[in-house]
Amino acid sequence: MQRSPAEGYQQASLSEQKVDGEDFIQTDVCPKAGDVILDLGCGTGELSAYLAELVGPRGKVIGVDPDKERIRVAKESHSQIENLSFTEGSASSFFRMDSNSYDIVFCNAALHWMPEKQQVFNSMFSSPKAGGKIAVNYLDRLPQFEFNAYMLLNPGNGERICHEMYQCESKTKIEHYCLSSGFQIVKHYEFCVSFVFNSIDGLLKWHWSVTHGVLDLSLVTEERLKKYLSPSVGENGKPCLDFRGIKEESTVYRLIAVKQAENAG
Ligand SMILES: C[S@@+](CC[C@H](N)C(=O)[O-])C[C@H]1O[C@@H](n2cnc3c(N)ncnc32)[C@H](O)[C@@H]1O
Repeated sequence: MQRSPAEGYQQASLSEQKVDGEDFIQTDVCPKAGDVILDLGCGTGELSAYLAELVGPRGKVIGVDPDKERIRVAKESHSQIENLSFTEGSASSFFRMDSNSYDIVFCNAALHWMPEKQQVFNSMFSSPKAGGKIAVNYLDRLPQFEFNAYMLLNPGNGERICHEMYQCESKTKIEHYCLSSGFQIVKHYEFCVSFVFNSIDGLLKWHWSVTHGVLDLSLVTEERLKKYLSPSVGENGKPCLDFRGIKEESTVYRLIAVKQAENAG
């Protein structure tokens, strides 16, 4: 039984977020033993724990998130991992801690929740050591199944979720912020994530937990649910719960950029 949106998020992230996050880490982040990593917007810390395993006992991972409850769940769930710690904080405050001290700043599925992205990138630039890198995975726009859920299932909350909580911006703008802050871009590419849900209830709980409980499930009437699901009902009479491979439902961007050492190149 889930008790809070943070616990719900942990469950969702063990399936939906973790698979693609681990793929991103293996493909592009490539941490080495001994690395010190900042996980910015770490949520309940499932990927932070994976990073801690990869950097080993000589390395260290620090997870930062502004959601008090998610940080509580992260600390409680991963307390046995010695080279992992969690701190409540946000993209606008973390850089005051330990500038120039990380090998990698990792930011998975969190940039699109952050306003004032130029400031975020400037802060990120002050965090890695010279020669260090950032690895950022973000949405440039809301997948259609999310946008429709918020607008149709919770008309009173939809605008707030889609336009105030989510802060999606285009690839071109993100690239501009990244370069303006001083990074050199190594890779910036489109990737299709595996949004797939095992039931309608699972899909609804996912919407609830990723929005920190702002999507109010008690406002989801049968009529609203029908309106939301009916356009995707297939020949088998069942709604689509597997968005893999559908571009407008599952596209994210992966960005890798380095902070060049001063005497480099
Ligand atoms: C979809 S979750 C991703 C969590 C985790 N990185 C993962 O992949 O499972 C987005 C996270 O970004 C965090 N977040 C939102 N605004 C932030 C900010 N200004 N600075 C840092 N993190 C933020 C949220 O609290 C949330 O936990």
